[in-house]
Amino acid sequence: MKFLIVGGAGYIGSHMVKMLAKAGHDVLVLDNLTTGFRQSVKYGRLIIGDLADINLLETLFTQNQFDGVMHFAANSLVGESMNNPAKYYRNNVSNTLNLLDVMVRHNVKHFIFSSTAATFGEPEYVPIDEKHPQKPINPYGASKLMIERILQDYAQAYSLNSVCLRYFNACGADPEGEIGECHDPETHLIPLILQAASGRREYITVFGRDYPTVDGTCIRDYIHINDLCSAHALAMDYILTGKETGALAFNLGNGTGFSVQQVIDVVNKVITEDNCTLTIKDGERRPGDPAILVADATQAKTKLGWQPVFADLETIVRHAWAWEKKQIKKDTK
Ligand code: UFG
Repeated sequence: MKFLIVGGAGYIGSHMVKMLAKAGHDVLVLDNLTTGFRQSVKYGRLIIGDLADINLLETLFTQNQFDGVMHFAANSLVGESMNNPAKYYRNNVSNTLNLLDVMVRHNVKHFIFSSTAATFGEPEYVPIDEKHPQKPINPYGASKLMIERILQDYAQAYSLNSVCLRYFNACGADPEGEIGECHDPETHLIPLILQAASGRREYITVFGRDYPTVDGTCIRDYIHINDLCSAHALAMDYILTGKETGALAFNLGNGTGFSVQQVIDVVNKVITEDNCTLTIKDGERRPGDPAILVADATQAKTKLGWQPVFADLETIVRHAWAWEKKQIKKDTK
């Protein structure tokens, strides 16, 4: 099969490209490299370009007959989206429309979309299943929800089959150590803690210890990057084989929540083996952080046959730590 992977040089996209290429698929990556890295594309062919460039999209779809498209390219910082919503609506919504429209023009009917737990907003109950109301509380979540809505209308009008996968907290790294998480700026908990442990950062700040949770810190559902990617592969197969048509959506998480303190405890256990230590500071709550976000991924399991392989938090941390140690070596070379 031939797939276009938009945003294939980013954290999740690059792991997806590797998984598809290793399964024998022909993969073309389109990435503007604003947040992705050329060196993360270890497989397939990289085209450097932007979804705003309609002529480039036209050329790509004229020259290649894609069986399906996976779309990972987006801005994804909640705080930034509050201060600069225009960037989020332009890139995440308007540019995605360019991609959907070129697919329609070229009769490419299978689309997997990176959506997010942020489309749900403040949870009304946990674990969050697909029936949970979607009321995003920031432009990032709103921009993703708009595409979910657009996909329903495109299914109706143009028979475009799609699956929106709503990620909870993506983390971990390629178990073979070839690729991993590299954000600049880094805002995610696990890489930040590991950078504090490796000495690339002085300390980690815990954002609030007064939440209504077991130990007062926020609870999240951490899902290994390879488990996320395997869900994408299954979702693509699901629509390619016509098991269902239309615009579908699944929540993706392990269904188990870990508090920030519990994550720190697991990291401490792992880094001790390398004689590393961690400095922790307590800070204020980060605005917009719900106390608890945990997924109910029953639908993905029953319909797609998805089964997470790296659900254990310690395994996730070990893979991320192996990647972080590789980054320190690179920095000191
Ligand atoms: N946290 C800290 N200190 C830090 C960084 C994070 O205590 O330095 C805490 C946060 O307050 C939160 C938890 O660690 O409770 C996880 O934070 P992340 O920033 O790693 O992840 P989020 O849960 O905020 O974000 C994830 C996705 C977003 C998505 C959001 C939906 O990464 O893309 O869920 O709510 F928008």
